Amino acid sequence: MTTDTTAGPDRQTTAADLEAAAVETFAGKVLGDVAGAHIVFMGAIGDRLGLFRDLAERGPATSAELAARTHLSERYVREWALGMTAGGYLDRDRASGTFSLPAHHVPVLAEEAGPTFLANAFYDYATNFGAQYQALLEQFATGRGAHQDAFPEAQEAIERFTAPWFLHSLVQQWLPEHPEIESALRSGGSLCDVGCGQGQALITLARTFEEATFVGYDVYPPAIEEARRKAAEAGVADRVRFEVADAAQAVPGRFDVVTVFDVLHDSHDPGAILRSIHDALVPGGRFVAVDINVPDDPADNVGPVAALIYGASLQYCLQVSLHDDGAGLGTAGLSYELLTKLATDAGFTDVRRFEIDDPINTLYVLTP
Ligand SMILES: C[S@@+](CC[C@H](N)C(=O)[O-])C[C@H]1O[C@@H](n2cnc3c(N)ncnc32)[C@H](O)[C@@H]1O
Repeated sequence: MTTDTTAGPDRQTTAADLEAAAVETFAGKVLGDVAGAHIVFMGAIGDRLGLFRDLAERGPATSAELAARTHLSERYVREWALGMTAGGYLDRDRASGTFSLPAHHVPVLAEEAGPTFLANAFYDYATNFGAQYQALLEQFATGRGAHQDAFPEAQEAIERFTAPWFLHSLVQQWLPEHPEIESALRSGGSLCDVGCGQGQALITLARTFEEATFVGYDVYPPAIEEARRKAAEAGVADRVRFEVADAAQAVPGRFDVVTVFDVLHDSHDPGAILRSIHDALVPGGRFVAVDINVPDDPADNVGPVAALIYGASLQYCLQVSLHDDGAGLGTAGLSYELLTKLATDAGFTDVRRFEIDDPINTLYVLTP
């Protein structure tokens, strides 16, 4: 027991006092977390309606000026701007009443696909969680999953979230660690991206490795349509082909390199996908798998990034991976230990893990 000097010399701090103080501290943390959730909600509005971008590009504005510039209602814009100021995202000049985006917030909130852009994460949260909340409550009772069709905006949200990795890390940092993969691509090799989504990884790779050919497969037809459109727009459609295919059935063709970027943990049958990929690799080929960086024991997976990953899992990954009696690994479900087991069962002889400079992902290279 310690002496509580604020309560007089005779007053001792009791276990009940310590308990009350702990309750108060935890209540403060919960309040901070709830405030954070509201800030994310307001951030998603600022991202979606172009308010951050407008302030970054056209400079400080009163709520009336900002509303006029973005063709929105002044009353709503004012509430948003005051809320974002309260949350520390905007500055407000008391004399002129103008709101501004501080210069060091611009890359994080207004530079789409930049290396430190994060407003895409607000968007992801608000679109997925908001749309699916009632259905998710029911799924807690039934245990059922949801088809990707239940998340009409997820493809765009995922693309916005992953595109910066491809633009700033894949070619610059991740592949140079693996010269055998680079040399296969430089000497006219073939690469297949399984679960290619809207195609950003292959479009980036095709721009860099002009001699190589690329195929992207995805089970979700709207993603493939969009990927084809974007490849044509990027002028690489002659070397990048996108096709609808369920990789759990087969990965059609034979390739020097196969990649997957954040596919296995939310897939319906990761073991079957690994078997198809194994069969699609030429002898000496390489399989590059980027997936979430999680410890083998979930008990070690704590802290803010882990909480974010479990939240994302409930919002999307767990639901789609449970669909149709799927494996349901969830966003945090594919540890090195589990990948090694599934890959060994699928016929791979070597599974290596490489730390990459990324707060969320890790990179594996597998040899058949
Ligand atoms: C989280 S998204 C990642 C998309 C893309 N690789 C990226 O990083 O932006 C997972 C993708 O895997 C696809 N997918 C899941 N299971 C699949 C399967 N069995 N065959 C092919 N694609 C699959 C989904 O349709 C979805 O587009």
